[in-house]
Amino acid sequence: MHLVVFGDRGIGKTSLLHVLAILAKDARYLVRYASCSESSTFDSLFRAVARDVPLLYHAGYDPSSLEVERDRSLGDILGEDPVTPASLSEELVKLTGTKLLIILDEFDRSPEQGFRDKVAELIKSLSDRSARVQLVIGGVALNLSELVAHVPSIRRNVLGIAVAGMAPDELGQIIAKGETIGNFSFENATRDLLIEMSNGSPYLANLLGQYSARTALENDRRVISSQDLRVAVELVLDDMHSRLSPTAQAQLNCLEAKIKPTSLFAAGRFAQKNFGLLPEDMVKEIIATLGADSRQWQGTDGQFLFCDDSIPQILALKYWPDTGMAPSDVTTAAQD
Ligand SMILES: Nc1ncnc2c1ncn2[C@@H]1O[C@H](COP(=O)(O)OP(=O)(O)OP(=O)(O)O)[C@@H](O)[C@H]1O
Ligand SMILES: [Mg+2]
Repeated sequence: MHLVVFGDRGIGKTSLLHVLAILAKDARYLVRYASCSESSTFDSLFRAVARDVPLLYHAGYDPSSLEVERDRSLGDILGEDPVTPASLSEELVKLTGTKLLIILDEFDRSPEQGFRDKVAELIKSLSDRSARVQLVIGGVALNLSELVAHVPSIRRNVLGIAVAGMAPDELGQIIAKGETIGNFSFENATRDLLIEMSNGSPYLANLLGQYSARTALENDRRVISSQDLRVAVELVLDDMHSRLSPTAQAQLNCLEAKIKPTSLFAAGRFAQKNFGLLPEDMVKEIIATLGADSRQWQGTDGQFLFCDDSIPQILALKYWPDTGMAPSDVTTAAQD
């Protein structure tokens, strides 16, 4: 089986793949990690992978031959023509004496037309011929078929694993590790609030934890209070605001000017955990309130689209209720 690890942004897919890589190396796999960055083509990416596979493992070469002795790799025998799924699997099936694990992360960011189709073709070909090569694909997606084209034809050969948000006790473990390493501790209520605010995201738990701890330590305190968390939220919000594009900033301004804080909070919380999407009733409310302004942000299916992943996070943190944490500068028609 080949593996596809999918889920929402920032949920821990890459971290999971790194752990998998370590375990696979321990189990004597040859492991090659590659990120499908914007410039990757099937040819460039798999040539780079092949360059890390010693010819020693190719059944067509005698381990004592001159080519092998010269530390040559699979990359050296791929020829001049662009690598195709067929030409690559032709060589990969000849691997012997090892198992190769190819990790393709950020698969959703591979822009080359046909890249995903070619990877699906490669999977099919490797499976049909029982090659000692497995692909592990990671990327942002709601489901398996969104990430891997031609899923019906390779379904039998692919295992999909959805990475969901972390449970509160898992986020608690992240905090506990920080406490042990940094020799400080969170007040119980503050720890609970931080976990609640993280909303399943290990990214937010790390960020809020680090900023709160830093604030306390800078003031020579080893017990972190809700006041430190409050400062952390402000710092995180400053960070997120500073990274917004002008278009995203304009959308945020428009939402904050017209939608009431409780709805902004509810929308942010929901979208944080649902790929930036909102349920139908919230979409209706937002569109009705924004009026004509909202047309530019509506998808073809009527969904409301946030311009940036961090807008839901900003809304959920900035309009957090009942803690006195909402900033004092919310002076909008929304409050009336
Ligand atoms: N098990 C974990 N323990 C502690 N921190 C974690 C864990 N998993 C992920 N994180 C933290 O969460 C953040 C996001 O993780 P990661 O980059 O693995 O997510 P991702 O799903 O690959 O994100 P993206 O969708 O942007 O590619 C990182 O800062 C990482 O350190
Ligand atoms: Mg990632």
